Amino acid sequence: MMIAISATFMIFFLCSPSVAILITRLPLPSPVTGPESVAFDRNGGGPYVGVSDGRILKYAGPTEGFKEYAFTSPNRNKTICDGLADFSELQATCGRPLGLRFNHQTNELYVADAYSGLIKIGPNGGAPTQCFKDIQPQQENVNTTLGFLDGLDVDVNSGVVYFTQASANYRFKDAQALQSSRDQSGSLFSLDPKTNQTRVLMRGLALASGVAVSRDGSFVLVSEYLANRIQRFWLRGPRANSSELFLQLTGRPDNIRSNQRGQFWVAVNGALGPNPPPRPTILPGGLRISENGVILQILSLVKEFGSEAASEVHEHNGTLYSGSLRASYVPISSMI
Ligand SMILES: *[C@@H]1O[C@H](CO)[C@@H](O)[C@H](O)[C@H]1NC(C)=O
Ligand SMILES: *[C@@H]1O[C@H](CO)[C@@H](O)[C@H](O)[C@H]1NC(C)=O
Ligand SMILES: *[C@@H]1O[C@H](CO)[C@@H](O)[C@H](O)[C@H]1NC(C)=O
Ligand SMILES: *[C@@H]1O[C@H](CO)[C@@H](O)[C@H](O)[C@H]1NC(C)=O
Ligand SMILES: *[C@@H]1O[C@H](CO)[C@@H](O)[C@H](O)[C@H]1NC(C)=O
Repeated sequence: MMIAISATFMIFFLCSPSVAILITRLPLPSPVTGPESVAFDRNGGGPYVGVSDGRILKYAGPTEGFKEYAFTSPNRNKTICDGLADFSELQATCGRPLGLRFNHQTNELYVADAYSGLIKIGPNGGAPTQCFKDIQPQQENVNTTLGFLDGLDVDVNSGVVYFTQASANYRFKDAQALQSSRDQSGSLFSLDPKTNQTRVLMRGLALASGVAVSRDGSFVLVSEYLANRIQRFWLRGPRANSSELFLQLTGRPDNIRSNQRGQFWVAVNGALGPNPPPRPTILPGGLRISENGVILQILSLVKEFGSEAASEVHEHNGTLYSGSLRASYVPISSMI
């Protein structure tokens, strides 16, 4: 019965995906681009975004716009790096922040950087701390020079950080080649800041792009961009330490973000929805999914991004803030 109901919902929504209503666009300071992920601090301040030149910017209101908050590469040189374009070789020294999330207990910002690894920023912003510096190789066999980290989430209750390595074989500057490959070298990790213990939760992932932890901390979802699917890894309960298919899609899933009701928004590009006929055009959008994997809403973001891919859909205070690797702005949309 449950299955029949959800199938009906899917078909209904596939026939009529709703179109997000664009409220405004928050412009980035030219010429930087690529607000891949969006975060808010524990006081609701932000949005914070990581951009192409390795900085993290905080939105300070309509008059001031986006201001520099922090950076992710310990060796970053402002003269060389400020204003850098995306996919440049120099990002290896300037940094390229992707997934962002605050620990709301400490107001520290955790960042998955495509070149600098897992980064922590103190509550006043500024210079980064590299979390991976002290990890011993014998601890779970983690490669200390972790390349191309991508998605990140923080469990609000435990402070445990979950993050993905998109691929062990490709670098961020070769993201286009990775996107047309059959790579399966991505991984899902966790770091407990209380003990500094790092665990490898899943390996062999096909471009592990996004990650989100459930509201009760019993599981994490990880999106595999190249496999058009979302997997669930159980952290607690009878199936702890095992994974299962959560949702098969026809479009490419990127970041996953939970909302205050414990549901998830997934940025999806290409054909939107679980099982429509193949459609070749890029269609940026978001899917709202229940904790049980039922699709509750399919939202087109064509007005926000045109034919550019969306990387994140983030619900905050009743409106949606969207991320994209190519945009020069952060669109805010109503959810209807
Ligand atoms: C930053 O780069 C500029 C230009 O190459 C150079 O003149 C300057 O010394 C560098 N600054 C630091 C702190 O390395
Ligand atoms: C660690 O990663 C680097 C960069 O991806 C790679 O060159 C090196 O071979 C890896 N080391 C191990 C032990 O896997
Ligand atoms: C964890 O590592 C950081 C540096 O990366 C260090 O400052 C901190 O003391 C460590 N914490 C524990 C519990 O070992
Ligand atoms: C899951 O794995 C962790 C780390 O290896 C271990 O401590 C825990 O006991 C395991 N849980 C179950 C239910 O197997
Ligand atoms: C949240 O949304 C309400 C209604 O749209 C608005 O009045 C309020 O200022 C918003 N709060 C924040 C912190 O953005």
